[in-house]
Amino acid sequence: MSMTVTAPEHLAGGPSLPQQRRLVTAIPGPESQARMARKAAAVASGVSTMMPVFAVAAGGGVVVDADGNSLIDLGSGIAVTNVGNADPFVTEAVIEQVRRFTHTCFTITPYDGYVEVAEALNRLTPGDHEKRTALFNSGAEAVENAIKIARHYTGKSAVVAFDHGYHGRTNLTMALTAKAMPYKAGFGPFAPDVYRAPMSYPFRDGLSGAEAAERAIHTMERQIGADRLAAIIIEPIQGEGGFIVPAPGFLPALQEWANANGVVFIADEVQTGFARTGQMLASEHEGIVPDLVVMAKGIAGGLPLSAVTGRAEIMDAPHAGGLGGTYGGNPIATAAALGALRAYDEHDLLARARELEGIIRDELTALQSRDARIGDIRGRGAMMATEIVDADGRPDAGLTGRVAKHCHAQGVIVLTCGTDGNVIRLLPPLSISDALLREGIGVIAEALAANAA
Ligand SMILES: Cc1ncc(COP(=O)(O)O)c(C=O)c1O
Repeated sequence: MSMTVTAPEHLAGGPSLPQQRRLVTAIPGPESQARMARKAAAVASGVSTMMPVFAVAAGGGVVVDADGNSLIDLGSGIAVTNVGNADPFVTEAVIEQVRRFTHTCFTITPYDGYVEVAEALNRLTPGDHEKRTALFNSGAEAVENAIKIARHYTGKSAVVAFDHGYHGRTNLTMALTAKAMPYKAGFGPFAPDVYRAPMSYPFRDGLSGAEAAERAIHTMERQIGADRLAAIIIEPIQGEGGFIVPAPGFLPALQEWANANGVVFIADEVQTGFARTGQMLASEHEGIVPDLVVMAKGIAGGLPLSAVTGRAEIMDAPHAGGLGGTYGGNPIATAAALGALRAYDEHDLLARARELEGIIRDELTALQSRDARIGDIRGRGAMMATEIVDADGRPDAGLTGRVAKHCHAQGVIVLTCGTDGNVIRLLPPLSISDALLREGIGVIAEALAANAA
């Protein structure tokens, strides 16, 4: 039964928030500045913030801050609020669940929501083989569990990840993650038996998918050996590493090699999942059927939930009690996921992601035609990026940082990424309007113009 959500007018977020960029103070305003001072005195400084503004409401394509500034959201809280903040399907499902019960621990007394989410993920992940799912809290925790499962199933221990890859901040996932600063520096030693292979990076290496796969397979065979390798883990489009879309054929060749060599092929779809790229999962663009798929972020409209879904024989390998955790698949998070899945469907968000890609490509291509510092435009759906380069084609992290800062000051939330810190990534909520998206990219253009070469 659906119910109506009521919130005091000034606190109501969601799609009914006025969809406009509106600055009433400098960024950050006095209220945000006061809160930032309080944060500095209370919160560990390693937990830094990209923009010094405190959010009080969000929805559609905007985030409203404590001073009443309405900012264009081109980040979705790092690819999480794909359905939009406070989407009514999510909000209503959460409120209904909170009123019934908040926690029993699924491994003590189970409940329907967990099983329903597992059934949905078994259905929507690639391949029509028999599947099983296990739920966790964060992307990193799900990655850790995917590796545990692959090791248990194969009886082998080595794992290979890729240059530029990002898989999280726990000990094993730091080992899998490529970039040292800020993710790994000073936090070692890291989990053993983790290796790195070269990625396909068409803008930089000029290799075809087949050539790049041959290079990666050579590394795996010579430096590890298939007989020791439990799993390959790879993002179908790398997120933090710079929105790197591998050359066509790279992922299928890796998967084929993994299948032929008894190596579990794991797709980390934490950032690419849930309509973000114009398919429910980015693996679908590549025609690959991973043995295990890791999901999080967009799965539950902003609530913490993650999952590993995969071949039944692999997922069922660990003994009873070998997988779990206190909160994994919490009933509120699973209710949110069921609401979000409804939103993806009823708002036709796969199609919307493709429309947003069209707008972003239009705007960035026009910009590139008059500004050679836009070195590359890449991505899929509403996961698009531009790589910023200097006159010699080298990564320009300084300019990238200045552009992002300018956007922030003008009320546009943009994120950067890339091993060299020179990529501006666009991850708008799929609920953003065309007009706000174009306006946001217009501010990026202004920022580039303000930082003329
Ligand atoms: C591809 C990928 N894997 C794993 C993670 C880790 O997820 P979490 O931050 O929820 O632990 C992220 C987070 O950005 C990610 O992008």
